[in-house]
Amino acid sequence: MTPACYLQTTDLCRHYERGHRVVKALDNVTISIARGEFVGIVGSSGSGKTTLLNLLAGLDTPTSGVVDLDGVPLSSMSRRQLAAYRAAKVGMVFQSFNLIAHYTALQNVETAFYFTGTQPVERRRLAAEMLERLGLADRATHRPSDLSGGEQQRVAVARAIVKKPELLFADEPTGNLDLENAGQIASLLTMLHGEGLTIIMVTHNLELAGQRTQRIIRMQYGRLDRGDHSDARADARPDAREGAIP
Ligand SMILES: Nc1ncnc2c1ncn2[C@@H]1O[C@H](COP(=O)(O)OP(=O)(O)O)[C@@H](O)[C@H]1O
Ligand SMILES: [Mg+2]
Repeated sequence: MTPACYLQTTDLCRHYERGHRVVKALDNVTISIARGEFVGIVGSSGSGKTTLLNLLAGLDTPTSGVVDLDGVPLSSMSRRQLAAYRAAKVGMVFQSFNLIAHYTALQNVETAFYFTGTQPVERRRLAAEMLERLGLADRATHRPSDLSGGEQQRVAVARAIVKKPELLFADEPTGNLDLENAGQIASLLTMLHGEGLTIIMVTHNLELAGQRTQRIIRMQYGRLDRGDHSDARADARPDAREGAIP
């Protein structure tokens, strides 16, 4: 393993049994992501993108294969260590924002500190600071239904990064947004990447991925799509290739 490799999968599989059929949601996927990279994952619906993100985030367990974080297999971690990995290092953003409807923007961001032992006063201060940073100070007391889609997603990003994670997983973060708001969220992610955050973003929007990310991983039917590849490991494995923008 090279020192630059931060997050790595080796022959990662996630299969589901459906009666007599096996759905290969993810099939022999080998990728490596360097610390500080901004990677896009593209592919048609059902190609395994969300499955891959969930495995990388330690939210799901592979059928076979390995996810290594800094050289440590997630499978070697206890449930407690895995929970600590997610709590301390991982932020997640979803297409549908996933905000709590009866909480204010501020309270939604504060939920990131649940189970961390952070004092209520401190978590309120940090959440308010983050909302201010993302230009939402005057929306802090609004509930999601009183916010635009773009604002809701910015609240969700605030919640994802308020604990200063190392990794941000974004699953179609602009999928429910109009062009202008999608651009704003993309700019926000670009800024966070500039500050050192490692970002892995699933998107349908090829233009967005092409403009904003440093590298694109293409998926098809649970596998890496064949094409040009920049990853020497992938080159060595004809059945597990990683697409890349030339
Ligand atoms: N819990 C599950 N049970 C059975 N099949 C699933 C399950 N979750 C996902 N799949 C299947 O795995 C494939 C990949 O799904 P997913 O990762 O959600 O794709 P994408 O995010 O690229 O749209 C799809 O065919 C989907 O139907
Ligand atoms: Mg998906």
